[in-house]
Amino acid sequence: MNDAVQTQSSNAAFTKRVFSGIQPSGGLTLGNYLGAIKRFVQMQEEDYETVYCMVDLHAITVWQDPAALRRQTRELAAGFIASGIDPAKSILFNQSQVAEHAQLGWIFNCVARMGWMQRMTQWKDKAGKNQQNASLGLFAYPSLMAADILAYHATHVPVGEDQKQHLELTRDIAIKFNTDYGVDFFPVTEPVIEGAATRVMSLRDGAKKMSKSDPSDASRINMTDDADAIAQKIRKAKTDPDALPSEAEGLDGRPEARNLVNIYAALADVSVDAVLSDVGGKPFSEFKPMLAELAVGKLGPISGEMARLMENPGEIDELLHKGADQARAIAAPILEQTYDIVGMVR
Ligand code: TRP
Repeated sequence: MNDAVQTQSSNAAFTKRVFSGIQPSGGLTLGNYLGAIKRFVQMQEEDYETVYCMVDLHAITVWQDPAALRRQTRELAAGFIASGIDPAKSILFNQSQVAEHAQLGWIFNCVARMGWMQRMTQWKDKAGKNQQNASLGLFAYPSLMAADILAYHATHVPVGEDQKQHLELTRDIAIKFNTDYGVDFFPVTEPVIEGAATRVMSLRDGAKKMSKSDPSDASRINMTDDADAIAQKIRKAKTDPDALPSEAEGLDGRPEARNLVNIYAALADVSVDAVLSDVGGKPFSEFKPMLAELAVGKLGPISGEMARLMENPGEIDELLHKGADQARAIAAPILEQTYDIVGMVR
């Protein structure tokens, strides 16, 4: 799902600016690409300023091996660029290079309430039964996320359904800050459903989201997989014994079939109905090779460019440094004004 945040009418004065982030906590999957990055690329062409961030400070709220984190951050950057994020159109950067995120995050730690954080389902899921042993950063995660967004006075935040609660909390923080200090400084944002986007599910279990942290590599397509690996994972993907339906209603109660058809439609940039009017009645033994060919054709150029960039980490790092400079140019004055509102002597 693509949830976006839309300004209320009282915020009409704010520039239409998109902010979104992805954690470099694992490799990049088809789920990240179809569920997020593809939309980020489109938004560059629409009437927005676009700011995209690799949220490494969020990633370390759970333990990350330093060498793996460094590699995954560069891989994520390479994935963004190879997928079509154009540094001439978007600001692309790494969170820890722009200190304003952590600085504004601290102010928000003093605005947000413990009770708000305790209600976050992601906190409850990730901390599990042993909350006492979770990091303090994991608890404060949503406050840093609010800082990511509000440091740019961002008005639109395309994220998955699972992040909706965090966006509501961002709005609560903005309202409490504005109220506590008697200002109209941070935009008060309202999550709105933008329409169905592609939620890519595991190839082994149509009820689970495709995830970089799933122990089974066969459950996901990695953006770095080669043609053989992609074809083999699709061939082995779980399905049911029936043929494909001719209409979308026929996918009800068939999560694996729905997932493969959704992936096909998203890769081909056509509707699910259009796909089914072509392939309805075909068995999976015919549909899977079609899907494999489409996936290899679409993802091959992306993974090829990612591989080239990964061999030139200096090129990636330079792009990220430039992106961080551009990001700072927006965030620094907003942080300064925030400090001033709060009463810090500067
Ligand atoms: N929490 C988001 C996720 O796990 C990542 C994220 C961090 C983010 N900061 C953000 C997304 C700001 C949108 C805006 O998917």
